[in-house]
Amino acid sequence: MRLVLLGLPGAGKGTQGDRMSEKYGIPHISTGSIIRESIAEGADLGQEADRYISRGELIPDELALQVVHERIARPDCKKGWILDGFPRTVLQARELDRLLAESGLDVQGAFDIRVTQAEAIERIAKRRMCSSCGAVYHLEHYRAKGKGICDTCGGELYRRSDDTVETARRRLAVYMQQTHPVLHYYAQDGRLFSINGVRPIDEVFADVDHFLQMFVGDEDVGEVR
Ligand code: AP5
Repeated sequence: MRLVLLGLPGAGKGTQGDRMSEKYGIPHISTGSIIRESIAEGADLGQEADRYISRGELIPDELALQVVHERIARPDCKKGWILDGFPRTVLQARELDRLLAESGLDVQGAFDIRVTQAEAIERIAKRRMCSSCGAVYHLEHYRAKGKGICDTCGGELYRRSDDTVETARRRLAVYMQQTHPVLHYYAQDGRLFSINGVRPIDEVFADVDHFLQMFVGDEDVGEVR
């Protein structure tokens, strides 16, 4: 399966991407997480990206494409991948299709997880992340059992630097200007699947999973004649 997750910042792309990856055993690749790791490591890519992320702006297309190109070339991506946070511009979407076409492949489905802007801001403001394993929590909907401690690995929970309400508003505006057109790009040829994201996490996943059945075992379908 080769899938992309779209939706406003805070819509639940990462949350659903983790579930999809767990169930189908293909990597969940978040460009935002890769960039944040590069920033934490002080890598060149991270240093360049940091000034965009902290302002809620997109990093340049070439940088984002470089990140994805390198990541999907790794052996664990042979059976497919779930891209989260990429593509974020029509140029990125076109370049991804062009790159895949060189190997006779394509993006099979783009899932748009829909929430209102008010819900997105609320989720971002109350999100907490594990500094060790990256697990995602929410102060009300998905609380860690111990205060400030990750249930899975015991790591310390923190708030992302771009999760302030002010930066979140800028990220939403950037999404509407630069990423919203990507929905039309995938809708044009029937690859867009729209999901109501304003429901409990399990219900959203059930909907996503319903559509995923279309892509499972594609290679086994059809008689040999
Ligand atoms: P990125 O890390 O991709 O951030 P984002 O798109 O803004 O998305 P988020 O991670 O904020 O939210 P999410 O939709 O994954 O929601 P989550 O599951 O965590 O990008 C960050 C930055 O990197 C960008 O601003 C840009 O600068 C740069 N960047 C990345 N990719 C780029 C690219 N391709 N090109 C250029 N720049 C790029 O959930 C949010 C919260 O809600 C959590 O607390 C969760 O527990 C809770 N939650 C989830 N689902 C539900 C539910 N159903 N009900 C209630 N609560 C829920």
